[in-house]
Amino acid sequence: MKAQTHPRCDQTAAWAALHGHYQAHGRGFDLREAFARDAGRFEALSVQAPDVFADLSKNLLDTATLHFLLDLARECGLEARRDAMLRGDPINSTEGRAVLHTALRAPRGAATPFNADVHAVLDAMLAYAEQVRADEDLTDIVNIGIGGSDLGPQMVVPALDAYALHGKRLHFVSNVDGHDISPVLRGLDPQRTLFIIASKTFTTQETMANAAVARDWFTQRGGTDIARHFAATTTNVAAAAQFGIRTTFGFWDWVGGRYSLWSAIGLPIAIAIGAQHFRALLAGAHAMDQHFAHAPLAQNLPVLLGLLDVWYRNFHGFSSRSVAPYHQGLARLPAYLQQLEMESNGKRVDTAGNALPFATSPVVWGEPGTNGQHAYFQMLHQGTAGVPVEFIAVKTPSHPHADLHTKLLANCLAQSQALMLGKSPADALGEKAPTAAPGIDPQVLSHHRSFPGNRPSTTLLLDALTPHSLGALVALYEHRVFTSGALWGINSFDQWGVELGKALCSQLLPRLASGDATGLDASTAGLLQRLRS
Ligand code: F6P
Repeated sequence: MKAQTHPRCDQTAAWAALHGHYQAHGRGFDLREAFARDAGRFEALSVQAPDVFADLSKNLLDTATLHFLLDLARECGLEARRDAMLRGDPINSTEGRAVLHTALRAPRGAATPFNADVHAVLDAMLAYAEQVRADEDLTDIVNIGIGGSDLGPQMVVPALDAYALHGKRLHFVSNVDGHDISPVLRGLDPQRTLFIIASKTFTTQETMANAAVARDWFTQRGGTDIARHFAATTTNVAAAAQFGIRTTFGFWDWVGGRYSLWSAIGLPIAIAIGAQHFRALLAGAHAMDQHFAHAPLAQNLPVLLGLLDVWYRNFHGFSSRSVAPYHQGLARLPAYLQQLEMESNGKRVDTAGNALPFATSPVVWGEPGTNGQHAYFQMLHQGTAGVPVEFIAVKTPSHPHADLHTKLLANCLAQSQALMLGKSPADALGEKAPTAAPGIDPQVLSHHRSFPGNRPSTTLLLDALTPHSLGALVALYEHRVFTSGALWGINSFDQWGVELGKALCSQLLPRLASGDATGLDASTAGLLQRLRS
């Protein structure tokens, strides 16, 4: 095995100790007994980080488990790895790049890398956003981008709807499927539309194809002023200029796509909520960065969540985590987190190229509560697989419907309680079941109606969903992903796994036109021929 600078999790004494601890205490851990045993469990296992309070007490661990996990973090050099990222070392080793999304939200004058460059672009981008906001003739803003050049703005804009300027409609086009852009264009007037072409590389097939469609649509309808109606956010300013775009906001190769909403890629967010609120979003993320950089590991929320992820993935064997935001504005958060976590940590070799003998990224999935309750929560409560759930609740809503909000919060609390408490067949036996089949054996029915319980969850609480708290929440997730990735010894900042499909797509494109299936596997050849017939 080739060596890494810091030991990988499985090469540490703490890893072996955790295995022993799991066999002795982890496997048979019972949440209900743990609460009965320890009246101080909630206090001991909850953490207040900037803007985010976390209740970790409904998880399958106790302070002894945490002790071993914190040892693991120390032995893996988590703090040194974190400091290397924050300093700008080229920790994205396969691409030889620094990883400095934290520098994008450092205040002006901070001693962080590229501070002057960051603020020069930020000022220019926000000035432009304010100009667009003041321009009453521009009513529709279409962001054309995919992956990290789409998911961040697409998640944040509805989340901060309470702060959005009315009279501007934001649209997001990402898919190369024409069913995405067609209905958007149908409702637009070229003279009142601004297209933002968002692409770090300015080479992504989907984005370039949709940008070309948008430009054709614009010129075919008499549009001539590309400078006014098209802007680009990219690290490849030359390619944007070649496309004909003069209004361009740049960023840098040390901003990963999935970490880029804080850069010029955030332009649609800035247009929606304005410069002041965009700066608050950055300030919230920066507050979480400071917490991650300086809080002791035992009170460091991103670290604790990352350690919990390792505990669940590698010891309990949970292969997925469900995210349940109890705020409709966060409907796109699970999709955003899928890219953040699965593109970052969906890796099977360590940084030295060695195959990993343990599992990495779980599947991350979810829907806003309460909708998920009426869909897949059945499986969470009674299915065979254990799935840790992450509830996100917001104390104060930004709408006037207090009764709805109370119901929403009661649902959120009830779900984590039900997952934990469960219900025995004996308890189910004594209850009325109005929809039960007449004549069904009550014993049989009681097994269908019982809940195993002891199913873990975390609850994250925000006082309100504001630009500041949302910034903190997203940065919390970024650093949590960093933490598990660092312990696993992987490069969380490359994404070679997307390349093969892209390359094969380029080879198949001309074959779809010509019908030439020579040398293709029989399945692909058969499908190609059916698609052409
Ligand atoms: O699919 C891979 C990927 O490179 C993502 O990492 C990235 O966010 C997305 O494509 C879009 O890339 P770009 O911003 O360069 O168009």
